[in-house]
Amino acid sequence: MALRPYVVGNWKMNGTRAMLAEARAIDRSAQRLMKVEVALAPPFTLIHAVHREAEQIGVGAQDCSPSPDGAYTGDISAAMVADSGAKFVILGHSERRQGHGESDALVLAKADAALAAGLKLIVCCGETEATRDAGEAERFVTGQLAASLPAAIDAADERLSVAYEPIWAIGTGRTPTVADIGTMHRAIRKLLVERYGEEQGSAVRILYGGSVKPENARELLGADEVGGALVGGASLTAESFLGIVMASVDLQDA
Ligand code: 13P
Repeated sequence: MALRPYVVGNWKMNGTRAMLAEARAIDRSAQRLMKVEVALAPPFTLIHAVHREAEQIGVGAQDCSPSPDGAYTGDISAAMVADSGAKFVILGHSERRQGHGESDALVLAKADAALAAGLKLIVCCGETEATRDAGEAERFVTGQLAASLPAAIDAADERLSVAYEPIWAIGTGRTPTVADIGTMHRAIRKLLVERYGEEQGSAVRILYGGSVKPENARELLGADEVGGALVGGASLTAESFLGIVMASVDLQDA
């Protein structure tokens, strides 16, 4: 059975306790929108507070360490993330791959650590504009994912989602065409089925991320093999984020 669409807000390095009111408003509305699974990934400092506010939405982190504990100043382990109330972690976001030099192997090590701590995963992938212009986007993204994804996932436990986020679409207001998103998501689906088998590989939700807004959400979320959205800027206010969630509800009803 197909899982509900998954709409996740990645707050990135935004948010102090003053933003808890937005999280609360998102949570209260999500309670009426059961057709969509809604989640927020606030910065580490707010996870516990958002978790306490949340009755309906999922709460997750934006990163975790591959190491279980020890002398790693500034790092947060997967077990600590789980202990803070988070249920999932976003891994391999391009802002960490590019800004913090994270390799596919490191993302994979973090994925294994997160699974061992009982967390769900959203593993991100995406190409630069130069790679797309060179006609290499599919080859690059599937290669990046193949090297970042865990070897195995448990049957039917929704542990894994993938987010396709073309780097040139993040925070730019530019998006791929619906056809290009469909082409990429089909290539990712093929990889997932090869890796995990027909049943498990077909159940993994493939989210699209990159300049998703209330105005374009219905079109982007309607692309082939799109199982939800990973939203940055537009997840920072309840009004715009709920606009995207509502677009996903509308699509379900259509
Ligand atoms: P924007 O929605 O701000 O383009 O960010 C997308 C993103 O990187 C989500 O992880």
